[in-house]
Amino acid sequence: MFHLRKKISHKLLFAFFLVAVIPISIIGFSMYRTAERTLIDSAYTHVQTIAQNHANRLDTWYGERLNDIKVLTGLSAVRDYCTMACGLDSRSMRTAKSELVDNFLALTRAKSPAYQSIHVITPSGGILASTDTNSEIIVSKRYLEDLKSLMHADGPVLSPVHQHSNLEWYLHLTVPIYFESGDIGAGVMAILDALGTLDPLLADRTGLGNTGEAYLVNEEGKIVTRSRYLSPEQTSAKIFETVGIVSALDRKNGIALYRNYMGREVVGSYTWIPRFHAALLVEIEKDEILAPLEGIKVAALLTAGTVSLVCILFSLLLSRQISRPITQIAEASRRFSSGELAQRISCSGQDEVGTLSESFNSMAEKLSILIESLKLKEASLQKAYDDLLQTKEQLVQSEKMAAVGELVASVVHEIRNPLSSVKLNFQIIGRTLDKEGPLHEHYAIGLSQIAQLEKMFSSLLDYSKPITLERVPFEIKSVIEQSICQISPYCREDMIILLGIDDPLPSVFGDPGKIQQVIVNVVKNAMESAGAGAKIEIRASAIDAEQGKELLLEIKDNGPGISEQDLDRIFLPFFTTKQKGTGLGLSIVKKIMEAHAFGISVSSQEGAGTVVSMHLRGA
Ligand SMILES: Nc1ncnc2c1ncn2[C@@H]1O[C@H](COP(=O)(O)OP(=O)(O)OP(=O)(O)O)[C@@H](O)[C@H]1O
Ligand SMILES: [Mg+2]
Repeated sequence: MFHLRKKISHKLLFAFFLVAVIPISIIGFSMYRTAERTLIDSAYTHVQTIAQNHANRLDTWYGERLNDIKVLTGLSAVRDYCTMACGLDSRSMRTAKSELVDNFLALTRAKSPAYQSIHVITPSGGILASTDTNSEIIVSKRYLEDLKSLMHADGPVLSPVHQHSNLEWYLHLTVPIYFESGDIGAGVMAILDALGTLDPLLADRTGLGNTGEAYLVNEEGKIVTRSRYLSPEQTSAKIFETVGIVSALDRKNGIALYRNYMGREVVGSYTWIPRFHAALLVEIEKDEILAPLEGIKVAALLTAGTVSLVCILFSLLLSRQISRPITQIAEASRRFSSGELAQRISCSGQDEVGTLSESFNSMAEKLSILIESLKLKEASLQKAYDDLLQTKEQLVQSEKMAAVGELVASVVHEIRNPLSSVKLNFQIIGRTLDKEGPLHEHYAIGLSQIAQLEKMFSSLLDYSKPITLERVPFEIKSVIEQSICQISPYCREDMIILLGIDDPLPSVFGDPGKIQQVIVNVVKNAMESAGAGAKIEIRASAIDAEQGKELLLEIKDNGPGISEQDLDRIFLPFFTTKQKGTGLGLSIVKKIMEAHAFGISVSSQEGAGTVVSMHLRGA
């Protein structure tokens, strides 16, 4: 039964998951993905806008620096000085006019902290004037490259961000000074502190949240502005190759979702800024962008979890509700089949289970009636079978008796004739004998033995031949009286026979001759047992019986009684305790009574007499 419930709950659970949990999960997941996509898309736009702002600021910054330097190159004092200086050796030039130019340079330098130093240079590398005569740029490799660029330039030249020997990042902005001939006669070179001046421009973190940053990467792939996570030493020592950096250094602009130089997933905008020979990266960590979704994610997971839990509980409850009546029906069927025919189901209701219960109950009702009637039929069949067996036994017995009777009759017939002849001759011989002589006694013994044999043969014939009854209604009183008449020759004077016959008595339906034979036999036994002083009481009374009228005939004597051991054997043929008895008297009595279907019983106590009770059916 538990198995059935488990099976139902599994199926229900599967169905609930199919129609509720899975669709809710799919919808929740797709909504989450859509929201994530939207957030990331808006983050793309956002970082792009910020990147654009930063690029504009860089442009503005560059424009301001260019203006400063252009003002210098446009000053007639500077130009005259350069024209003159190119005709002099440098030492005499310095003493002549350099102070004014130096002042201009110093003034310009003071305008912005971006200026590390400003120099007036010749294309061949000579320094005509300088804010810092000890500047190391003079010997730097970059300086030489800038000079080369200056030679071929037709306008200002901005060097890539590069490192000096002090490991700081610098930019060189060089503006040419043209002579009247149109050739580049000299130039003004400003050494710009990249980290100190560009960094503040990118350091504005407005719109970048907690994890965002904007930084510049030079052509080599090194971060040249401050990093949120790494020190300047670390950034200058390493080349970074994130998707954003590599794409920007490939001169591409765009937005993407990638891992930054710290391995964190970021939404980034990468822009190549040709003027600075650098890539501008603006990045915000993806986790921060998607942080608003965390609540939705938790809510979605909680919803899915709650729905799953509800489904499980609901399927358990429902399976219990569904399986209970089925279990009841199954249990009732099992009990009914094991023999509890009164088993019924108490389920009611208009649903299928109610109908099923009703059908079961009506089927059980009909089946139990059928089974009960079958049981009755079986019992009556069994009784009929037993009766048949008994009849068969009786038939076999009567057939046997008939065969024995035939045999006995023929034997008796064969012996009786010679015996009659013996008796006749014996009697003839007897007549010649002197009654007082010694032979007469032997003659008397022989004659009595012949009489004993004749009695035996007669009883044998009686016992062995089948009984045929001629039933008629008769009065028991007259049969009793005739029986006494028949016995009277055997009565002695000291014997008393008392009669107690109720009046009226119902007539007996039977063979009066045979019943007389029974009474004679029983009374004779009583007389023989009691002997001298015998007192025999014959009582006939009516009794109420279920199957109609009945008579009770009792023959009581005051004889010595029958021992308990003999009492079981008195109806057996040839059982006798008498010297001249055949032992067939009571056997014949029993046979006659059974032929009538009348009952007979003997009760006796040693020393207290014997009572023979007979039940005779009335007419
Ligand atoms: N009233 C009685 N009192 C004591 N014993 C009895 C009485 N009736 C019968 N019996 C015992 O039952 C035995 C069998 O009786 P049954 O009439 O069959 O044979 P029987 O009387 O011995 O011989 P038969 O009837 O040929 O004279 C008797 O021998 C006797 O022992
Ligand atoms: Mg007898």
